[in-house]
Amino acid sequence: MMTYNPFQIEGKTILITGASSGIGRATAIEASRMGARLILLGRNQERLTETRNNLEGDGHICFAGDLTSPETLSEVTSEVPQLDGIVHSAGVNKIVPFSFISDKGLDSLFKTNFFAPFLLTRTLVKKRKVNKNGSIVFITSIEGPITGHVGNSAYAASKGALSAAVKSMAVELAPQKIRVNTVLPGMTETPLIYGISISEEQLAADRLNYPLKRYAQPQEIAWGILYFLSDASSFTTGAGLVIDGGFTLL
Ligand SMILES: NC(=O)c1ccc[n+]([C@@H]2O[C@H](COP(=O)([O-])OP(=O)(O)OC[C@H]3O[C@@H](n4cnc5c(N)ncnc54)[C@H](OP(=O)(O)O)[C@@H]3O)[C@@H](O)[C@H]2O)c1
Repeated sequence: MMTYNPFQIEGKTILITGASSGIGRATAIEASRMGARLILLGRNQERLTETRNNLEGDGHICFAGDLTSPETLSEVTSEVPQLDGIVHSAGVNKIVPFSFISDKGLDSLFKTNFFAPFLLTRTLVKKRKVNKNGSIVFITSIEGPITGHVGNSAYAASKGALSAAVKSMAVELAPQKIRVNTVLPGMTETPLIYGISISEEQLAADRLNYPLKRYAQPQEIAWGILYFLSDASSFTTGAGLVIDGGFTLL
């Protein structure tokens, strides 16, 4: 018996950046379990292969490269097949007090978090690699669009810029029947939060600031992303889905 499921993504071809770790990896694994074919992108070949080994189904492709490099962008956009979905999960963060942010640090953070997803999308759309009824999902953050914390001004600005850009993109791409949305996670248990100079004790205390008294698991963010990739969100564009265990309510 067929099970009714408007959230299905079976047979869709989806490009996921940042697929070698955290939210991108969880999204790839969950999407493969639902029958999607995946193009995995990340810098680290070993970690990408690890993700690939955890996928269900066949026909998935790994692409190792640095998305801040024009050569990688050009190669990826030429070689990827026609896409039904794109998930921009690649991102970095570094906690630096505002007065100590270097030009180089600011430039590097914006190159990864803002320019890479922006330019990758621009080129894929220009090359008509995104199919009609396609869905583009940017992973931004509650930090920037909604919240602010010490040492996060550059990161918050990069995520705020992306969230703002999505609104115009959504309007511009609507005539092509391509939808563009953002997912805004709160703190999520991935390698990213252990590389930003916050101690285990600080993280433990911060988890208690969340109404649900914990951070998200990466799959819990992935399920929101899958909603945007599926036709269940066919009338949703230019929207942001906050997944933060109620943190921004307080
Ligand atoms: N974790 C959180 O609490 C949280 C909260 C809000 C928003 N977010 C956002 O969610 C997204 C995913 O974060 P995460 O927590 O999953 O982090 P993560 O586990 O550190 O994964 C980051 C991914 O981005 C890739 N990446 C970074 N720079 C890249 C570049 N220049 N070119 C290609 N790939 C690059 C990494 O590839 P390599 O493995 O090859 O380095 C890795 O696959 C990010 O945009 C982050 O800002 C995270």
